[in-house]
Amino acid sequence: MRKIEIFDTTLRDGEQSPGVNLTIDEKIEIALQLERLGVTRMEVGFAAASPGEIRAIQEVAKRVKNTTVVSLSRSLEGDIDKSWEALKNAENACVHVFLATSPIHRQHKLQMTKEQVVEQAVAAVTYAKKYFSEIQFSCEDAARTEIDFLSEVVAAVVKAGAKVINLPDTVGYMTPVEYGNIFRQLRERVPGIENVKLSSHCHDDLGMAVANSLAAIEGGATQVECTVNGIGERAGNAALEEVALALDTRKGIYQAKTDIKLDEIARTSKLVSRLTGMFVPGNKAIVGANAFAHESGIHQDGVLKEITTYEIIRPETVGFKSNKLVMGKHSGRHAFKDKLEELGYRLEREQVNEAFVRFKDLCDRKKEVTDDDIVALLDSKILEM
Ligand code: KIV
Ligand code: ZN
Repeated sequence: MRKIEIFDTTLRDGEQSPGVNLTIDEKIEIALQLERLGVTRMEVGFAAASPGEIRAIQEVAKRVKNTTVVSLSRSLEGDIDKSWEALKNAENACVHVFLATSPIHRQHKLQMTKEQVVEQAVAAVTYAKKYFSEIQFSCEDAARTEIDFLSEVVAAVVKAGAKVINLPDTVGYMTPVEYGNIFRQLRERVPGIENVKLSSHCHDDLGMAVANSLAAIEGGATQVECTVNGIGERAGNAALEEVALALDTRKGIYQAKTDIKLDEIARTSKLVSRLTGMFVPGNKAIVGANAFAHESGIHQDGVLKEITTYEIIRPETVGFKSNKLVMGKHSGRHAFKDKLEELGYRLEREQVNEAFVRFKDLCDRKKEVTDDDIVALLDSKILEM
């Protein structure tokens, strides 16, 4: 089994979700839970963003002992100085330096030539060595960068001392085959690449961030960057819980494992949702309210007979108490009888039949029938039958 390291960026790229602004105490609370969850690295912020951001990283760095704490920096000496100010007391620190490499960014954003980009990237990594032993370099918009030039930049920063090379799909433009191939090609083209970690960083603009992260692993990445609940800039980042469960559930395919404590996932998801104010949709994979709920009678009957008919992951695996059989118009007699027993009613077949007719009638008037509604159906006429 290959080991895949999880680099969590909930507190940096996740906080870039419009409307999210975490206080220092909130960052600390999430950071301590991320440490419990077992992430390898956590990016806590972008030190140059504000004095408060430096303080937040410093406070997290004081408390987190088993996880590497990361600060993002542009390829500028001033940013790297601020990351050092934020991280100098961390037990394990990493600076994450980035510079855009794609033609679109070079021409319109940076107005720099290829030579200038290589020069600035190398200078930044060289400068960061003054403070940090662990330096990660990201080629921003790597996915839309010419492969020859991407190889050139990566070769130069590896030579300068970067220990982790991150290849972001900054705008979520890739398909899995394309993104996986970038990793394969770099491994063939860049001398010394076997001595550094390769990392994926995917955005979800086309809904493929998790699929692309998994393709990167197949292409040779050993680190995946992601966020809890998939929050992040625009459509968000690859969802940590989805990557972890895909690797665990399909280990036969990926032959890879992470250090994530899967049963901490539900708690982490709820904490991040509460503190960021980012609501988790009901149908969200792994952590949505409906991820382990069964509504149709056919599914409920199947699950009651043998759970694996309609569940590929046990809710307990990710820290939820149990699955849910939701009572509604699609529910069948089997689930209804089971529900009556759960509520303490062991009824004769005739009584169940009568109650079931009333239940179906109620379902046509009400979307979800609660336990109290079901108890209310059981009047003396049924109970004394
Ligand atoms: O999406 C991106 O390219 C980023 C980099 C700063 C790593 O978040
Ligand atoms: Zn990003």
